[in-house]
Amino acid sequence: MTNDIVIVGCGGHGRETLGIIRAINRAAPRPPWRILGFVDDDPSDLNLKRVHRLDAAYLGATHRLVDLPPSTHLILSIGDPRTRKAVGERIDRYGLPAAVLVHPSAEIGEDTVAGEGLLVFAGARVTTNVRLGRHVHLNQNVTIGHDCTLADYVSVNPLAAVSGDCRIASGVMIGTNATVLQALEVGADSIVGAGACVVRSVPERTVVKGVPAR
Ligand SMILES: CC(C)(COP(=O)(O)OP(=O)(O)OC[C@H]1O[C@@H](n2cnc3c(N)ncnc32)[C@H](O)[C@@H]1OP(=O)(O)O)[C@@H](O)C(=O)NCCC(=O)NCCS
Repeated sequence: MTNDIVIVGCGGHGRETLGIIRAINRAAPRPPWRILGFVDDDPSDLNLKRVHRLDAAYLGATHRLVDLPPSTHLILSIGDPRTRKAVGERIDRYGLPAAVLVHPSAEIGEDTVAGEGLLVFAGARVTTNVRLGRHVHLNQNVTIGHDCTLADYVSVNPLAAVSGDCRIASGVMIGTNATVLQALEVGADSIVGAGACVVRSVPERTVVKGVPAR
């Protein structure tokens, strides 16, 4: 069965998402998605040109979602967790379901639960018994170890590694190439800087960086 899908956000992250959906379609015997296009409340002219170059449509601002049939799926494609959450809460009122999208080259292990809106980029690996909340984004080549929980709107940026038994609270961003050692907690809305090595739990709304992260 083919479902219609709309990408929310036509920045770089959104256009990467278009590539993921097209890769999913190419890999399946019957393409699961018909891509209607992008919505964005404030697209730059440059991004609109880039969307056009990808042979995709810009449908207008997010209020256009009200016109779509209720079976249309969305994918929230905004990289920054705070902005993603704000937009997600605003468009929830349209009642459209969020897709779960996993690039064909990513691996999701057994006994893993995915919330709606999960977006997994090429090369990401999730091992076993992992709980992934709503609108979690796992970028290229990240690894998520066994028995982890990632709450709603978490972003793990490219090449980052979350070791086993970690609890990552809602809205956290784990920067590119960062490492979180095993059995640690990162509190809600915190940021782990690019390249950091987290060796102790991080309280909520805290920015840590460096090796070891402070
Ligand atoms: C850690 C981070 C959140 C800090 O942001 P910020 O507060 O705006 O930081 P600034 O750029 O003002 O820099 C403040 C200081 O921290 C240093 N710094 C910034 N990022 C750092 C990092 N990742 N590791 C170590 N030091 C860092 C800067 O060199 C600067 O040092 P100085 O005061 O001695 O000059 C940010 O730099 C970061 O790493 N974000 C993750 C980005 C990411 O993953 N991008 C990929 C998207 S796909």
